[in-house]
Amino acid sequence: MKLLENIRFDFDGEDTSYLTHSFHPFPAKFPPQLPKVILSEFSGKGEIVLDPFCGSGTTLVEAQLQGIDSVGVDINGLACLLSEVKSKPLSKQQQSLAAELFNRISDESFLWEMGKKKDVTVPKFDGLSHWFQPNVAKELAFLRNEILAIKDKAARDFLRVVLSSIIVRVSNQESDTRFAAIDKKIKDGFTFKLFLDRGKVFLEKMRAFSKQVKTPTIVEVYNTDSRDLGFLNSRKFDLIVTSPPYANTYDYYLYHKFRKRWLDIDVHYAQYNEIGSRREFSSLKNDPSKWVYDLKLCFMQISSVLKKKGLAFIIIGDSIIRKKLLRMDEVISEFAPSVGLEVCEIVSSDLKRHSKIFNPAFAQRGKKEHLMLLQKQ
Ligand SMILES: C[S@@+](CC[C@H](N)C(=O)[O-])C[C@H]1O[C@@H](n2cnc3c(N)ncnc32)[C@H](O)[C@@H]1O
Repeated sequence: MKLLENIRFDFDGEDTSYLTHSFHPFPAKFPPQLPKVILSEFSGKGEIVLDPFCGSGTTLVEAQLQGIDSVGVDINGLACLLSEVKSKPLSKQQQSLAAELFNRISDESFLWEMGKKKDVTVPKFDGLSHWFQPNVAKELAFLRNEILAIKDKAARDFLRVVLSSIIVRVSNQESDTRFAAIDKKIKDGFTFKLFLDRGKVFLEKMRAFSKQVKTPTIVEVYNTDSRDLGFLNSRKFDLIVTSPPYANTYDYYLYHKFRKRWLDIDVHYAQYNEIGSRREFSSLKNDPSKWVYDLKLCFMQISSVLKKKGLAFIIIGDSIIRKKLLRMDEVISEFAPSVGLEVCEIVSSDLKRHSKIFNPAFAQRGKKEHLMLLQKQ
């Protein structure tokens, strides 16, 4: 029986920014409609879903909205923070703590703009003066101190995400996926204003999300390496919905480096353990077998934590490594049986018919994306 045949995967033009989904930029995020449709067709209450490359937490948010328990794993500490914050509702009291900070900052913001207040200790880290104007660094340091003083962890983490979301914009980093320094001439008070504007929008979205979640489900997020899921102690999952990195395309650790510095999140763990990064494959040094080896290790783990006959939905893009195109549907189909997974169906993006593209930004580069349905044997 074909399971994917009657499902619509054409999300072009649909709103992908509802509720907490728009909180923070993250390269190669799922359109939320993708896990939403998969979870509603193939899972239900009382079940537990795993996303071993949870990134910004899209699967976990959708699982929460559908009353399904979930576990997310990611090598990147910032991804884990985003996943936690976006997928867990805040109580009214926690929402008020955030609102109180915004009110306090509104008053402070005026003084900073007038240049009347500038006495704050800026944390020291490599590259600070190259990547941040002095006025921006002071405003960020002030906001950071205010946030760290909040005792409630969930409220504090929510505000850390607001802060993180503005850091690339106010830094000298060109964009989220371009690590070049440019002069943006950020004026005094701009960092505060951006923090407040974003914060108020995020708080409204968090209120709406929290209201929609009547009985919160269990969400667990682990900052670790999916090449070894042994820490899950033989727990079994009903369903896996995930998207591994698109090899040689992004450097997640690099794009988020300064966000992590400001939020006291470790940079090196992701830097050295992120699989398929551009850092690892953009020079011609490493050949594709290293990528296939790492990915296979992850699939062995996926297989070992999936219930018998459980389904794994994998969204993955083709890669070019050492000028060689790797068709990832073929690569995975080749090793899947040896790790106990049967490939049941594959839907690939067709560049001429836009209807089957899951992540349009990626597909424009001439490679294909694949939605693969695998089943544990
Ligand atoms: C394509 S993104 C996932 C995006 C996610 N579906 C979303 O909607 O935000 C791939 C993720 O894999 C993570 N990753 C890379 N190597 C990993 C590893 N060894 N273990 C766990 N996660 C890893 C990256 O940090 C990144 O967040």
